[in-house]
Amino acid sequence: MSTAISPTAYNYKVVRQFAIMTVVWGILGMGLGVFIASQLVWPQLNLDLPWTSFGRLRPLHTNLVIFAFGGCALFATSYYVVQRTCQTRLISDSLAAFTFWGWQAVIVGALITLPLGYTTTKEYAELEWPIAVLLAIVWVTYGVVFFGTIVKRKTKHIYVGNWFYGAFIVVTAMLHIVNHASLPVSLFKSYSAYSGATDAMIQWWYGHNAVGFFLTTGFLGMMYYFVPKQAERPIYSYRLSIVHFWALITLYIWAGPHHLHYTALPDWAQSLGMAMSIILLAPSWGGMINGMMTLSGAWHKLRTDPILRFLVVSLAFYGMSTFEGPMMAIKTVNSLSHYTDWTVGHVHAGALGWVAMISIGALYHMIPKVYGREQMHSTGLINAHFWLATIGTVLYISSMWVNGITQGLMWRAINDDGTLTYSFVEALQASHPGFIVRALGGAFFASGMLLMAYNVFRTVRASKPAEAEAAAQIAVVGAH
Ligand code: HEM
Ligand code: HEM
Repeated sequence: MSTAISPTAYNYKVVRQFAIMTVVWGILGMGLGVFIASQLVWPQLNLDLPWTSFGRLRPLHTNLVIFAFGGCALFATSYYVVQRTCQTRLISDSLAAFTFWGWQAVIVGALITLPLGYTTTKEYAELEWPIAVLLAIVWVTYGVVFFGTIVKRKTKHIYVGNWFYGAFIVVTAMLHIVNHASLPVSLFKSYSAYSGATDAMIQWWYGHNAVGFFLTTGFLGMMYYFVPKQAERPIYSYRLSIVHFWALITLYIWAGPHHLHYTALPDWAQSLGMAMSIILLAPSWGGMINGMMTLSGAWHKLRTDPILRFLVVSLAFYGMSTFEGPMMAIKTVNSLSHYTDWTVGHVHAGALGWVAMISIGALYHMIPKVYGREQMHSTGLINAHFWLATIGTVLYISSMWVNGITQGLMWRAINDDGTLTYSFVEALQASHPGFIVRALGGAFFASGMLLMAYNVFRTVRASKPAEAEAAAQIAVVGAH
């Protein structure tokens, strides 16, 4: 067998690069999460320096976990899935390489500018205009590579996973470009093109759809490929997947106002956001059920396959957080949950339980394949990782529920004479045990990532990447 890389083979190089960086950024972003969680327990860890203060490191955490860890996982898996399901190589190696290096440059830009305090102040869109422009260019290139590959596909139809990846790419571009419209006044300072309630609405149209399309739709693309592959079963219902797709993308885009309840946003817009969020439960659960039911006849595999466990438990957390979200979108519930740790718990039920766990499961499936190995170096380590991640997530979200409800109730408690029953500091003191449990849960989750790094390192060290490409080439040729 020739191991020379032929242009007909898949481009696994860019997949390998993004996959490795997913693990690297995952460790850094989650390690930073544990650090800022510890700052809330021991404020001395702010070190009395502006660069290491909670206020500057928190956005760095969110940027690293969402865009660096989550983003690299999405790039890696989408490039892998689109090539395999279209049975063709990426349309351009150099454009794909540009997306890899461009994306890493954006992340390094975040790593430097956020601790220095350069920020637009818009949550999840903090990066100042020069980096935002680079991000837009990289993203549009990503779209060209992805859709170009779909256009030159050798299969007749477009597999549903690619629909989800495609929607995630298109809508992310739209959100990023519209929300970042601004007037630069210097190299590191710009002002939003919008003002007042309009600015807030556009920001949360962006913010919620960053959740809906970046943290959900892209990862659903992942689910539609990796769950059937790992379970070795066809997707439960292809028809449901189509209904799921159209219903999800039609509804998500309207739900943003649930972030702005009881604000200056017009009341009708708040109520519309609430109604759309409640309806969103249906497609979310439709997708979750489609993934879960794919295991029909394969449930026994969960006993021996920790990768499948990662994938299935991620779906359970997805189901849970998409039940919780619509409930929190109800105005009366939101009046209790808003500003409290309940929101933070909800975020991490989605972020750790769903986004991180499905990415980890997908990477464990994919890494041996793109490195020419039968399987990961150690299944035992994957199993240990699974338990650390699951226990870590449960500790994180349950402590935040307790904290959130405690905070909400203490803040609204009123004495007979109309004065507040508790001061803010008393509510903070009551939150302290929960902060400790959250930091512990985070440490569990992050240490699982270290096991993953070791396991990946051992797998890569014994790898035969050229053979992976040659095998892919045979698969392509064999298919025709
Ligand atoms: C049907 C699905 C969902 C609905 C209706 C929903 C609804 C909500 C609501 C009502 C809030 C609180 C807003 C506030 O009080 O400020 C919220 C916050 C949030 N949710 Fe969800 N959620 C859903 C799924 C998810 C998932 C799956 C994830 C993660 C992967 C997620 C990530 C977030 C984030 C990051 C925030 C915090 C935003 C912020 O204030 O910074 N959500 N969501
Ligand atoms: C070891 C794992 C992690 C730990 C210990 C951790 C810890 C934290 C902490 C302490 C905060 C600030 C909460 C506050 O302001 O009160 C936070 C915020 C946030 N984290 Fe994490 N995190 C972890 C993993 C992740 C991952 C994997 C994601 C996304 C994929 C994520 C997304 C977010 C988001 C979106 C927020 C902002 C929430 C909001 O504004 O409501 N985190 N995290």
